[in-house]
Formats: sequence, structure tokens, C-alpha cells
Amino acid sequence: MGNVFAIIKPILHAIMKAIGMTSMLVEIEPGTTMHFWVPIESTAIHQDPNNKPKPTVVFLHGFVANGIMTWLFQMVSLRTSGADFAVYVPDLLFFGDSITDCPERSTSFQAHCLAKGLMKLGVEKFSLVGFSYGGVVGFKLAQLYPDMVESIVMSSTVIELTESISNASLNNIGFTSWPDFLLPKTISDLKVLLSIGTHKFPWFPDFFFRDFLEVMFANRKEKLELLKAFVVSDKDAATPEYSQRIYLLYGDNDKIFNQAVSDTIKAKLGENTTLEYIKSAGHLVQLERPFAYNCFLKKILSYSSGSGKM
Ligand SMILES: *[C@@H]1O[C@H](CO)[C@@H](O)[C@H](O)[C@H]1NC(C)=O
Ligand SMILES: *[C@@H]1O[C@H](CO)[C@@H](O)[C@H](O)[C@H]1NC(C)=O
Repeated sequence: MGNVFAIIKPILHAIMKAIGMTSMLVEIEPGTTMHFWVPIESTAIHQDPNNKPKPTVVFLHGFVANGIMTWLFQMVSLRTSGADFAVYVPDLLFFGDSITDCPERSTSFQAHCLAKGLMKLGVEKFSLVGFSYGGVVGFKLAQLYPDMVESIVMSSTVIELTESISNASLNNIGFTSWPDFLLPKTISDLKVLLSIGTHKFPWFPDFFFRDFLEVMFANRKEKLELLKAFVVSDKDAATPEYSQRIYLLYGDNDKIFNQAVSDTIKAKLGENTTLEYIKSAGHLVQLERPFAYNCFLKKILSYSSGSGKM
């Protein structure tokens, strides 16, 4: 039997086609390419100048998968049953089909490349939805390109992964290093990762884990370097001021960034920040409780694009 993810790939692509999404490789600069899922109506051959511009949403994935695996339920939800958003889902560098030969590994570099890629795709203003590692990249993007980002929705993440938060979070999950946790080598490592990542991980047969290990952890050397650059010293951490509304949407049982962490982040971000907990959800909140998550997300996005307040 082939790899289960190789088998579901054409199914995922058929779903993308059905919701009007297509795959694009964008050259950011020579040697750096980012892959994006983009709305078909945004591509040159389908563009119609008479179309009313749609509210645009950019989704940033976490460390353990690519864009489509992280955000599938949200992409479907925002592209069907009357929801009419222009949805962009990139793969961050060294995930999915995005790659660079540049030695830079910081979240700022990811953010710069992303902004450049979005500009090349003609995306100038958007709501940003970030998850975990992608959330930190998103906070950077909003800091570096404040005019591009209209509102910010963040899940299971921190503003920056400072050494103190990093140490406390590793301690919570019983690990001493992020690579040991986030770059599993065996089926049992991966089971630990997914069980810590969720409120309650559903049963899957062993071949699921074997195949997941085979496809999701390419570019190990570069990902180790990304993790090294991910943790910053406490004294280098700043809390930038954001002019956007910020919505924090967390699982009430996030075992990695627990409620003490999310409450602290909310306090740091100040008065224009809302924090909601989704019940019986872990770190992977958008996959574990897609209906509740999408319901909150649609409410937030319709308020943001209607410029109202929640
Ligand atoms: C975090 O843990 C490392 C390794 O145990 C230690 O060297 C470092 O001082 C700790 N940093 C903080 C800010 O607690
Ligand atoms: C909160 O938002 C309002 C309206 O957009 C803005 O005037 C104010 O400066 C913001 N406050 C902070 C602390 O960013």
C-alpha cells in the first residue's frame, strides 16, 4: 500500500478545485520560492475588473504541517455556503513546497518573504490568521508591514518565543528541547507530539503515523535551524504596539501554551485585544474543534471587514 498522504493528495486537490482555489509558486527572489493556495478568481486569466473585491484572509500554519493540512476546514468554511472570502494559504519556508537557499532562519525573514510574495500576488490588505509558529511569523509581519494587516486572529501562539516562555512551556510538556518534541523520529515520538498537541487525539491506525512521519518532516536540518532561531533571549524581546484589533482564539486545554501564557499575552497586547477559549480543545484547536473555531472566525472576520466592533 502507498503512503496514505500520497493517496489523499489528489483528494485534497479536488477539494481545493471545488472551492475555487488553485496552487501557485511565487519566486520571492532568486533562490527563494513560496507556495501559496490562492483564490482562482485572483489569477490573471480569471480576473474580472467588474468583480467587487472580497475581504481577504491570509492563514499561517504551524511547525508540524503545511498550509493545507493545517487550515483545510477553515478554507472550506470560508469558501462555501455563502461565505465569500478571498483566502490565501502559503507554505512557510521549508514547509510544503516553499524553499530558500538563503541562510537566514528568523521569523522576520519568513515575514519579509511572505509580504513580498503577497505583494507579488496583488494582495495589499488582509486579515491575518496565525497558528503557533505561524502566529509568531504573523505578529512579525504585522509589526513590519502594519499597513498590510487589517486585523489579527491568533491561535495557540505567543508574540515571541522568549527563553522564559520556552523554558516554561517545555517544562509543561516534559521536554528539554523543541526539536525532540517537534521533529519526531519514531512513531511513538509522533504519537506523543499529537497527543500533547490535542485535548484528546482520536484513534488512528499505525500506518497513519508512519506515513505522516514520512511526508511531514522533510528539510530536517533547516527546520532545526528554524527552531534555533525561533527562541529569542528575554532581553531581545520587545512588545510592539499594534494598531489593529487582535483576537486571540485558544483551546482551553492547550498543553503547550497554557492559559497562564495566553492571559499574559492578552495583558501585554492591551485594550484592543479579545481572548476567547474554545472548550475541550488543545493546541491544534482549529483541527480539533473546527465548527466552533470557524463560527468564531467568521464572526470576527465579518466584524473586521464591516469595520464594526465585537
Ligand atoms: C532556560 O533554560 C536553559 C537551559 O536549562 C537555561 O540555560 C536558561 O538560563 C533558561 N533561561 C531562562 C530565561 O529561564
Ligand atoms: C485601540 O483602537 C483604537 C481605535 O482603533 C485606537 O485609537 C487606540 O489607539 C488603540 N489602542 C491601543 C492601545 O492600541
